[in-house]
Amino acid sequence: MPKRLAVLCSGGGSNLQAILDHLAALGDARAADVVLVASDREMAGALLRATRESIPAVAMDRAVRTTGMADLLAQHRIDLIALAGYLRFIPNDVTEAFRGRIVNIHPSLLPAFGGPGMYGHHVHEAVLAAGVRVSGATAHFVDAAYDRGPVIAQWPVPVFADDTADTLAARVLAVEHAMYPAVVQAVAQGDIALGGNGRVHGPPLTCPPSHFALSGDAHGASLALTITRGAH
Ligand code: GRF
Repeated sequence: MPKRLAVLCSGGGSNLQAILDHLAALGDARAADVVLVASDREMAGALLRATRESIPAVAMDRAVRTTGMADLLAQHRIDLIALAGYLRFIPNDVTEAFRGRIVNIHPSLLPAFGGPGMYGHHVHEAVLAAGVRVSGATAHFVDAAYDRGPVIAQWPVPVFADDTADTLAARVLAVEHAMYPAVVQAVAQGDIALGGNGRVHGPPLTCPPSHFALSGDAHGASLALTITRGAH
């Protein structure tokens, strides 16, 4: 039986779409079905995507997203939660009840460039200001601290000298779309699990070589990213 997955989003929901597409492509092999999309923003594009796919879409007011979140999840008999660009704090009763069953995607290589205030373009601006040459995407289990839970997978993304926050964000987002659905499937399937010692067990879900190619391109002899999946 596929796990009943809730996806929580604040924005456009391109990661939600990547998860939906991946699970649909897996067909009978999928380990989860998205049965609830919830947002703190009534106008979130993610809610429209859900409605288009006939998935229950809930705009959570303050009460629902705080003291009421556990009830909402219980009403929809949720087994697993994926945060996909959800910008609010998850109440402690939910992170405790869903220990090892709630995951997040963050657009940097945590613990660098994470924590309160580090979301969206703020992350990529901080990466560029720090002058690092590699950024990436991190999927992790969620606990009570922002962006600090046990890491499930990290895929690197090169930072180029002429990058803007927008160009870097687009390069990282494309990697998120490839990585996060695979993480969701692996966690739903039980291939990856959070152990009692707080360590993540299971295969490291490393970046497939097909996503990267060594080449000397317009950016010089550097690691050029080859995106093998369509944009969302
Ligand atoms: C992604 O960069 C994700 O890592 C971050 O928020 C963004 C969400 O984008 N947490 P989308 O709503 O999935 O398009």
